[in-house]
Amino acid sequence: MDRLQKYIASMGYCSRRKAEELINRGHVKVNGLVVKEHGKKVSGNEEILIFDKPLVNKNTQKVYYALNKPRAVICTVRDPKQRKTVLDFFPRTQERLYPVGRLDYDTSGLVFITNDGDFANIITHPSYIIDKKYHAQVRGNFTKHDLQTITKGVVIDNNGLDFKTSRCQGRIVKNLFDENKTIVELIIHEGKNHQVKKMFDALGFDVLRLKRLSIGHFEMPQDLRVGQYMALKPKDVKKFFGDYQQNINDNSF
Ligand code: URA
Repeated sequence: MDRLQKYIASMGYCSRRKAEELINRGHVKVNGLVVKEHGKKVSGNEEILIFDKPLVNKNTQKVYYALNKPRAVICTVRDPKQRKTVLDFFPRTQERLYPVGRLDYDTSGLVFITNDGDFANIITHPSYIIDKKYHAQVRGNFTKHDLQTITKGVVIDNNGLDFKTSRCQGRIVKNLFDENKTIVELIIHEGKNHQVKKMFDALGFDVLRLKRLSIGHFEMPQDLRVGQYMALKPKDVKKFFGDYQQNINDNSF
């Protein structure tokens, strides 16, 4: 057990003196209650909030992985139905890993896994426009005209409200006439629930398979097999932070 101010300092949040000040001013809560005494001891199992935000250990090394998610795997930390999750592909470690954003249970491809909330926020926050590339295998003959329609934006249902998708890029990758299927590439930056499937559905096409190939500048390497993961290079991580700052600057015009 450590005194609260020592514990806060040991998490790399601030100095012990600064922690005492925060406690004096009533900015620190332990298990939901404001603590003002300096003698308070904590074990580390309590929920500690500073300015109503969870105290996280800033000394923990940040990690960033790219996983090639298989189909039939859920993109959450835990599943009440005991299905396989994206974290089952990683050794159990001290780091609290979690997936960045969601891919559907039956969608495969690129998912970032990290313990860095700032990174996750950049990738998932709608105001940071980050393209995501998908390959969809759809039933039927998807024509150039269909491609024009879908890339101009279509209306999909979003939690009971109509949502018009933004203009996006796309191309027909392959026509599998014999199998009555088409493989279509779409690059979108929005991330509404089941967005790609709903966009094809708006034109009357069923998506048989869906795979994500890239997020922003990061293309999943072709030799990263399904179920395998790799650490992102520091320069790739930095580029996301850099591009994000760029977006903020762009938004200010
Ligand atoms: N769009 C979808 O419909 N599903 C996904 O998993 C990702 C994007």
